[in-house]
Amino acid sequence: MKETKTVKFKVSSIDSLCQGVSKVNDSITFIGKTLPGEEGEAVVYSSKKNVSFAKVKSISKKSPQRQEANCPHFIECGGCQLLHTDYENELEIKKSSLLEIFMRQHKIDISDKFIQISAPRRNLYRNRIQLQYDKRRNLIGFRSEDSKSIIPVQKCDIAIPEVRDLMLSLYSSDWKKFAKKANGHVEIYKKGNEVKTTWDSRYAHEGFSQVFKEMNDRLLALLCDPTLISKYKGRNIVDLFGGNGNLSAFFDGSSLVIDGTPEKFINLVSPCQSYKQINLYADDAVSIFKDAWKEFKDDNSLLIVDPPRSGIKNLDEFAQACKPAEIIYVSCNPQTLARDLKTILQDFSISKIYQLDFFPGTRHYETVVFLGKK
Ligand SMILES: C[S@@+](CC[C@H](N)C(=O)[O-])C[C@H]1O[C@@H](n2cnc3c(N)ncnc32)[C@H](O)[C@@H]1O
Repeated sequence: MKETKTVKFKVSSIDSLCQGVSKVNDSITFIGKTLPGEEGEAVVYSSKKNVSFAKVKSISKKSPQRQEANCPHFIECGGCQLLHTDYENELEIKKSSLLEIFMRQHKIDISDKFIQISAPRRNLYRNRIQLQYDKRRNLIGFRSEDSKSIIPVQKCDIAIPEVRDLMLSLYSSDWKKFAKKANGHVEIYKKGNEVKTTWDSRYAHEGFSQVFKEMNDRLLALLCDPTLISKYKGRNIVDLFGGNGNLSAFFDGSSLVIDGTPEKFINLVSPCQSYKQINLYADDAVSIFKDAWKEFKDDNSLLIVDPPRSGIKNLDEFAQACKPAEIIYVSCNPQTLARDLKTILQDFSISKIYQLDFFPGTRHYETVVFLGKK
């Protein structure tokens, strides 16, 4: 039998990944789903030197900000991290997370440039979900909080009703017939009016779409700023990691949309957009991009970047290749965002930072940074 270690905790703060931080002498324990001021016991699931990660077992002193999560799987499931407190406090935690990352990485206080945009609701929003499966154990569900097992969540309230219903029906179906591997995943998502299922394919392999429709509308509203639109009227702009061109479709000019998705899966939103498939993480990506941009070349234009969680380490090289006057960086990972901004902050300064709560209940959020040439 595997040995488990139980530790006592006393949470002093929340870290940028929204976990409780408990310090005893020289050792630090991170305990998800706890709040400052809380005390109790947790089971360690991973540790290295003086740093441990633990799952809450019992709470002897509760924070006044704790509330009962409205999901029976909350403690076990790795999908949501913030249902144990109300939405107002969730937004505060997310705000502190972003401010702390910028302070730690750049030693800059962004609070005077920061604007938070909350979500219209905390559930029934995700139009795409991914479940893991283990055929031998006959298990299908979400990855557990410690990523070590699969939690058979049948009804997930963050999914939109069509996706939630299909997910529920999967449990009573002969799903193993479709699962090709011993361990793999299935994605359930809405595309147009259809709800689709794909087994063991790359995330969003048929083309990316934002998971929360109304929040995407709010993101587009930020980009539809009249000053910005009139400034780039008739100009050529770049939309890197552009997918179907969601972010550049309404600019009154042309945009070069670049993404790694095969062209056959791309449906550009506007006829003023051109598409080029480039693997933007490849060693020769910048030179291929430079070549593609030659035809559109427009110095002092606008560069929009919206990478996956891994970010874009050589953002400076892409900026040097197209020489924009402004950059809009849309990010779903504040850690890689802060890392990537370091490469351009000598030449560009931040004018505004928006935090959009695209993923209520979870520790995730989108950040949109507006930067202008110094
Ligand atoms: C966060 S999505 C943004 C999509 C788009 N901007 C939107 O708003 O719908 C990230 C995009 O990066 C693309 N992507 C992932 N890996 C890539 C790579 N190696 N090269 C180019 N694009 C990639 C995905 O296909 C996806 O469209």
